[in-house]
Amino acid sequence: MKVLIIGGTGLISSGIVKALQARGADLTVFNRGRTDDRLGAVRRRQGDRNDCAAFERTMAGAGNWDVVIDMICFRPDQAESALRAFTGRCGHFLLCSTVCTYGNTQTVVPTLETTPQAPHSAYGRDKVACEQLLLKAQADGRMNVTIFRPSHTYGPGGNVINNLGWAPTFVDRLRKGRPIIVSGDGHGLWQSTYSEDVGVGFAHAAGRSKCFGEAYNIVGDEVVTWDDYTRRTAAAIGAPAPRIVHVPTDFLLAADRPRFVALEEIFRFHGVYANAKLKRDVPEYRPAMPFEEGVRRTVAWMDQHRTIADADSDPQEDRLAEAWERALAEATASLRKV
Ligand SMILES: NC(=O)c1ccc[n+]([C@@H]2O[C@H](COP(=O)([O-])OP(=O)(O)OC[C@H]3O[C@@H](n4cnc5c(N)ncnc54)[C@H](OP(=O)(O)O)[C@@H]3O)[C@@H](O)[C@H]2O)c1
Repeated sequence: MKVLIIGGTGLISSGIVKALQARGADLTVFNRGRTDDRLGAVRRRQGDRNDCAAFERTMAGAGNWDVVIDMICFRPDQAESALRAFTGRCGHFLLCSTVCTYGNTQTVVPTLETTPQAPHSAYGRDKVACEQLLLKAQADGRMNVTIFRPSHTYGPGGNVINNLGWAPTFVDRLRKGRPIIVSGDGHGLWQSTYSEDVGVGFAHAAGRSKCFGEAYNIVGDEVVTWDDYTRRTAAAIGAPAPRIVHVPTDFLLAADRPRFVALEEIFRFHGVYANAKLKRDVPEYRPAMPFEEGVRRTVAWMDQHRTIADADSDPQEDRLAEAWERALAEATASLRKV
């Protein structure tokens, strides 16, 4: 199976490469050559997919592919460029989309692939537009297309997120026993999936006719509350039991909306997605990485690559936790007086 991955060296795509290598695929990756490349024996082509004309010229001269996996298609103009580059030259096209296409506000969990898409971020809206362009190509008989919608995916090469977003201080805050803000009452539900598990799903859908014209959530089996997530992450890395401070999302947004845009758009909502459809059509997809082990591997990589920021470099979370606890104490005291 001759496979091209647009991307290839990043978090999710390196998991896909590993799983395709295990399948014995003949692999080529296309990227700019900027991201650390740990792939071993694969063919490499260098270029910027945003230079659409050059990208399409390169692909016109590159022959045919059994499978193309596009990891970095974020906007409709990129999807249109992919269609020009690969129509008639590719047996199966896999688009990496996102669960942000659903919009996160759905009240029924888990979210199924049939749930209406109502994204409220520009990222989600653009991904829906990409999906629709490609699914139209499938409907018109121009190309076989499969859409993958990952939720949060983690692993070596990436970060350990927290309930407020992607702050690089989170691991150091846990290690130093600093207060950790979790929005709401900490009962929001969440799923995180290890990158190599996601890679297996993509790799075994590749070339599978049952997946043509379909969209799949690609998520793990485990659902946790954010309090659980925080405690288990701390335990996994040998940090002290965290002092969690529950703070209403509205308070955090009033204090610093730009800082908490990810909380506003994603993390304040339940993030629980069904993976039964993918397991049915791609039985090889069986998320296997225990959360604690995945976190340990990710943090070992972060330590090695010095991507963990010192908690002292960003004291805002300490200030906000203190401000909320003071406001709560004052409000409680004044209520007692009434
Ligand atoms: N990670 C998550 O939690 C998550 C969740 C939902 C959806 N997704 C989706 O997953 C996809 C990205 O996955 P990822 O973050 O794990 O990254 P990835 O695809 O694994 O890594 C990015 C890859 O793209 C290459 N690249 C970036 N810009 C490029 C350009 N202009 N031209 C050519 N190559 C380029 C990078 O190499 P160079 O830097 O060397 O070019 C790298 O190989 C996106 O479609 C995103 O919407 C991710």
